[in-house]
Amino acid sequence: MSLWHAQSWREKTALQQPTYPDQNKLEAIEAKLSNLPPLVIANEIEQLRNRFADVAQGNGFLLQGGDCAESFAGCRAGQIESTFKVLLQMAVVLTHAASKPVVKVGRIAGQYAKPRSSDIETQNGIALPSYRGDIINSFEFTEQARTPDPERMLEAYYLATSTLNFVRAQASHGGADLSQVSSWNLDFVANSSLGEQYDHIANKVQDTLSFMHACGVDLKQSSLSSAELYTSHEALLLNYESALAFDYRDQHYAGSGHMLWIGDRTRQPDGAHVEFLRGVRNPIGVKVGPTTKIDDLLQLCELLNPNNEPGRLNLIARMGNQKIGEFLPPLVHAISREGQNVLWSSDPMHGNTLKSDSGYKTRRFNDILGELNQFFDIHKSEGTVAGGVHFEMTGQNVTECTGGAVQITDQDLADRYHTQCDPRLNADQVLEMAFLIADSL
Ligand code: PEP
Ligand code: CO
Repeated sequence: MSLWHAQSWREKTALQQPTYPDQNKLEAIEAKLSNLPPLVIANEIEQLRNRFADVAQGNGFLLQGGDCAESFAGCRAGQIESTFKVLLQMAVVLTHAASKPVVKVGRIAGQYAKPRSSDIETQNGIALPSYRGDIINSFEFTEQARTPDPERMLEAYYLATSTLNFVRAQASHGGADLSQVSSWNLDFVANSSLGEQYDHIANKVQDTLSFMHACGVDLKQSSLSSAELYTSHEALLLNYESALAFDYRDQHYAGSGHMLWIGDRTRQPDGAHVEFLRGVRNPIGVKVGPTTKIDDLLQLCELLNPNNEPGRLNLIARMGNQKIGEFLPPLVHAISREGQNVLWSSDPMHGNTLKSDSGYKTRRFNDILGELNQFFDIHKSEGTVAGGVHFEMTGQNVTECTGGAVQITDQDLADRYHTQCDPRLNADQVLEMAFLIADSL
């Protein structure tokens, strides 16, 4: 195999990349980015590898979630805080159910680039480049807005920095204090029946903490007063990713986030994304859709995790409720037959997207739940570890997915449909999902 370096991906075919009109400007921005500090450091990345290794061996559970696409405009305190809180609430429910540590990974502080099915979007006879995420171009349908601008990579870097600064502060200074767990309730969660169920668990946690306090454990000094939250995004835009790569103690790391994943459209074993990610030590996710061939998956394991280390590779199954029963078992079987150490998780979102009668891109709560339940069943019958879940979700009270106890209908979608890309579960729906899968852990 040829030698890896941070730019060796340029010798391979890179799908889903923008065409920048001004190469000089692109290079100047890449140079500028490469002089800026990474957003995350090696010790944190190594720590997440250790956490993933525990999960892969059945001693933990992975909870990954956040926006489909973060927008620049969405970098606001309230928005970030509400999503963070829902993730923590879900983690409380799942920890309680699984009696295992829950590793929390946000799709946050860098989830700005999106793969698209077409390079071009046509509206009323006008053809323009497709929107590819705020790090590349702007959503508005004008020629200027849709022209890829490398300057946006810098803006993404600064907004990711700002987001990360805010969540780190929340996580370490009280925003995640377990002894405050019941006050995390968001208003609209508190007003639903889920609020009651959540309160019940929160009270139990509170009782345990009071007991520990009575036994002399200083909760303010313990790890219970803070949360460990890691960042992740799809490592799609390789100009950005490679500019932020760094070396530490003779190892290479991606500096844009703790965990990076490869999308279902860019996981070709001989492609540029696999080339870039094979050389960095971050935990790597690979989306595994229904078209994944067994041989390709095994080859990907070999390329991305040649030493077969647990904690390196997360296979994220995203088959769809209708397809998972047929397509996932042979893949799980092959991975386990070959003795590959991987962390399997389920993304029950991306195989269940449909167009509603009213014309919105949506997902049905029961399809999502159905895929999750099958994921757990398949691992049970294969004797393998169902290690985690991966959601597109938000703390905002949006109406983008139908169903759930809150009974969002097709007619409701128009109310608060805010996503710039795929439909997300709202706080009520995703917390309900956590309760519904709790028994399977
Ligand atoms: C995503 O996670 O937002 C995504 C595009 O997923 P996939 O690559 O699985 O389609
Ligand atoms: Co998506």
